[in-house]
Amino acid sequence: MKVSVLVPALLGLAASVQAVNIEYTTVKGFFLQDETSTDPSTFDYTAVNFGLINRTYPTDHLLKHLSDYNTLTQWERFYHQVRELNEWSPRDVEYKVLFLGRHGEGWHNAAESYYGTPAWNCYWAELNGNSSATWFDASLTNNGIAQALTAHTFWQKEIDEQRIHTPDNYFVSPLLRTLQTANLTFTGLSLPKGSAAFNPTIKELFREGISIHTCDHRHNRSTIHSLFPSWPIEPGFSEEDELWNGVTAETSDAQDARSAKALGEVFFTSASSKKDMFVSVTSHSGEISSILRVIGHRAFSLNTGAIIPVLIRAKKQGDQHATTSSVPWTVSAHCTVPPVTSASACVCPSSAAPVTTLLSA
Ligand SMILES: *[C@@H]1O[C@H](CO)[C@@H](O)[C@H](O)[C@H]1NC(C)=O
Ligand SMILES: *[C@@H]1O[C@H](CO)[C@@H](O)[C@H](O)[C@H]1NC(C)=O
Ligand SMILES: *[C@@H]1O[C@H](CO)[C@@H](O)[C@H](O)[C@H]1NC(C)=O
Ligand SMILES: *[C@@H]1O[C@H](CO)[C@@H](O)[C@H](O)[C@H]1NC(C)=O
Repeated sequence: MKVSVLVPALLGLAASVQAVNIEYTTVKGFFLQDETSTDPSTFDYTAVNFGLINRTYPTDHLLKHLSDYNTLTQWERFYHQVRELNEWSPRDVEYKVLFLGRHGEGWHNAAESYYGTPAWNCYWAELNGNSSATWFDASLTNNGIAQALTAHTFWQKEIDEQRIHTPDNYFVSPLLRTLQTANLTFTGLSLPKGSAAFNPTIKELFREGISIHTCDHRHNRSTIHSLFPSWPIEPGFSEEDELWNGVTAETSDAQDARSAKALGEVFFTSASSKKDMFVSVTSHSGEISSILRVIGHRAFSLNTGAIIPVLIRAKKQGDQHATTSSVPWTVSAHCTVPPVTSASACVCPSSAAPVTTLLSA
């Protein structure tokens, strides 16, 4: 448990958020993940066609003239249904299917299990690592690599068997574990003819919720670019991580405002934006939860390496002039030495009071 207090004096550090005037809604009835009867804790996206429900669509009859109508797959008919939704909607409405992928297991996930969540939050997560593992901007464990390769194999199966339309656009959070996951998932897939190449845009605002944990502190731009030299980095991406400071953390409200801003840079991007209907976003559990809140999807927590597709309707609201609002961040109290591990909260040894100072060098 983290002890969080609002510190008005730190308001200056609050994220400045451009509120984008777009209303997002989850369109239900297409994916099992939207149904209250689906249990997220046991759900396996690879066992059930990404969760796409077996059903007919109102637009199926428009395909009946095709000689191969009877062999069309669920994903082919779904793609056609979404295309028709876009075709028949006004200019200020856009439909997209986002494939939200959580990274495979990283060293920070392994360490949280190893130390236990209270001790992790209270002390260890604030360090860059221990003597044998690093979790500052954590990379994937072998288990995490295997999970990303499971996603790779599954995408290939969907391409081969379902003739799924692969993403028209790819985005990835700038943290190492997501960069590695997107790389392992999509590199080397045999994509359908005419589909967009895998050339993901590295996007700051799809990063994990920014806590005081060092796993949320990204490498500098030069390092990221040297690891993935051919991948575009969005304009304005700073050399140093200017959002993480190890002292204040984003609140859920601040994160949701950021997620809305990130989505605002995915929808209505150009005159042909409606054509980029399928979009892949490789991100994090906290950030995907935030995106799901913003689009009005029910909570659906993903295991490491899992992917959830969501059909989103976006509607521009009024004029496009964005307003700037400021959502404050909070400090999180922690210990300067390993905490009393028998306690379920942040209890420092010798009754020392928790502090809010930066621990990692
Ligand atoms: C859809 O139907 C096929 C067989 O027709 C079945 O194998 C598959 O599991 C079903 N998928 C879902 C998501 O119900
Ligand atoms: C460091 O943390 C990892 C978990 O990420 C754990 O497996 C390892 O045993 C720890 N090393 C030490 C020296 O405690
Ligand atoms: C980026 O970080 C690396 C180490 O992680 C360092 O060696 C390099 O000098 C940094 N580059 C810049 C331009 O700050
Ligand atoms: C990207 O993935 C390929 C395998 O698909 C691998 O060979 C390469 O080392 C990966 N690159 C990085 C920087 O992880």
